[in-house]
Amino acid sequence: MAFDIDRFTHNSDRVQWDDLDFESFASDPLPGEALRTLQYMCEVEYHTVCYLRDQLVTPSRRSADVSAFMTMWNREEFWHGEALAHILGLHGISVTYDHLKARRIKLGWRDRMVPVRQSVLGNVAGKDFIAVHMVWGAVNEWSAGAAYKRLAALEPHPGLAVLLKRIAAQEARHVAFYATQARSRLTGSSKAQALARTALQMAWAPVGSSIMSDDEVQHVMGHLFQGPQGRREIEAIDKHVARLPGLEGLTIVADAMDARGITA
Ligand SMILES: [Fe+2]
Ligand SMILES: [Fe+2]
Repeated sequence: MAFDIDRFTHNSDRVQWDDLDFESFASDPLPGEALRTLQYMCEVEYHTVCYLRDQLVTPSRRSADVSAFMTMWNREEFWHGEALAHILGLHGISVTYDHLKARRIKLGWRDRMVPVRQSVLGNVAGKDFIAVHMVWGAVNEWSAGAAYKRLAALEPHPGLAVLLKRIAAQEARHVAFYATQARSRLTGSSKAQALARTALQMAWAPVGSSIMSDDEVQHVMGHLFQGPQGRREIEAIDKHVARLPGLEGLTIVADAMDARGITA
């Protein structure tokens, strides 16, 4: 199935929430564990501009479709951050730019090295690097969609559930782009398949784990994915990944949960 990038760039819009009723948060606030998860999601969404920086130094920027996608993707993810910051703000939790900046500074040399590493890897791998980028993006977007769906199921506040579903619908469009690109770039390239397989096996970790503390990662993964329903979502992501050419048999997401003791 083709992905219509022109339609995506024309239709891309910020997620809307002005029409949703959040007044009941004043008398019936979200529980602490949900707010902690929302703050993690919010900060990871805002971090997209840095993820974009890390891809702009690779061969991905030379693909017309990928660079057009990344432009819209970054904007949509920014607005996911704004939407979640609004919910957090209604609970007296403010996620300001100074807070985000402090977190980025705290990442120190690790953060500064990422674009250097990406540039070296990208230039060594050449256009096959783009295939790895697309697979990686697909896994992360499948994970983001699953996370929002799980939080909507755990916290069925009417306004919040609608907002989370709207965000998940945009994550589904991101999945469609990345997975379509990944499939076509992996097909017929044993080098791209081997690179993607090795990269996922060696380096994939849950979204946000490169920037958030381990305690926060553990909380969010446990909150959303512990138990039978959460495990079903995890296994569904692995099944999507394993259907991509050359990635048969991979169970990277379940493996990452097992390593953290997050089980069915
Ligand atoms: Fe997002
Ligand atoms: Fe996304």
